[in-house]
Amino acid sequence: MTNYSTSISIPSIANPNKALWEKGDFTKIAAFMRQSGEAIADSLGIRPQMKVLDLGSGDGTTAVPIARLGAEVVGIDIARNLVEAGNKRAAAAGLRNLKFQEGDACNLQGVADHSFDLTLSVFGAMFAPKPFDVAKEMVRVTRLGGRIVMGNWIPNDPTFVSQVLKISSAFTPPPPDGFVSPMTWGVESHIVERFGRAGIPKEKISMVKDTYYFASPDTSPTQLIESFETFYGPTMNAVEAAQRSGKAAELHNQLVELAKAQNKSKDVGTLIPATFMRVIVSI
Ligand SMILES: C[S@@+](CC[C@H](N)C(=O)[O-])C[C@H]1O[C@@H](n2cnc3c(N)ncnc32)[C@H](O)[C@@H]1O
Repeated sequence: MTNYSTSISIPSIANPNKALWEKGDFTKIAAFMRQSGEAIADSLGIRPQMKVLDLGSGDGTTAVPIARLGAEVVGIDIARNLVEAGNKRAAAAGLRNLKFQEGDACNLQGVADHSFDLTLSVFGAMFAPKPFDVAKEMVRVTRLGGRIVMGNWIPNDPTFVSQVLKISSAFTPPPPDGFVSPMTWGVESHIVERFGRAGIPKEKISMVKDTYYFASPDTSPTQLIESFETFYGPTMNAVEAAQRSGKAAELHNQLVELAKAQNKSKDVGTLIPATFMRVIVSI
């Protein structure tokens, strides 16, 4: 398959975005996301040999099932540990049509123009710090007649992930000047403006609310929250700040209360829905 390798390794210290995602181990959260990752893959009309880029792919929640459907898939992620975990999953599944490599959604240098039939980013590119550059790059690498599909969390939405991020940020020191909240990718006017500047008219963008599930038959909502606190960069930062201000228990209780209140599982397990914005851009 084509080699889209960019792999210039940037020291984490110089890149807070990279450091944030390499800090924890997102694979532990992704373990709760496999079912919905498969459902998204099934919804995309994947055909064999289709060329797909999964941007901010993590360890392959969507990239793995898309490759199983026969597409040629490249997962690009800023976190080296997640790229390694993704390549291990691809090898274990015997998927030779899937590879993961390090790269930054703000600058996909080394990836040729119009390379992909589908550029997908499910809760991935939304976390890159320069959203106008991200939109431009996604448009650039997608072929004419192709599609971009994004899944983005929605600010102030009452469901799980928006609330986890909102609670976490209330315990974290304010971000530096010029920081653009990733949650703005869940707002229609920002989505239209960002793709507009990349040359895409509003009529070519559709946005619809959809539901994602965090699911595990044998893990409780409290254990899910402990995984966020231990392995999910944004929540880990909140925990560290809360420990410094003596508010760690308050943060923990708020998160556990949220997870328990939103859990739909009828037994010991976890089934927590979370609303997101599905964005589809025709190129
Ligand atoms: C919430 S996780 C989602 C991972 C995966 N899409 C999934 O559904 O399991 C966000 C991912 O975006 C990646 N990411 C954050 N900023 C990025 C950037 N600038 N370029 C590429 N990936 C980025 C993170 O490393 C992380 O894997």
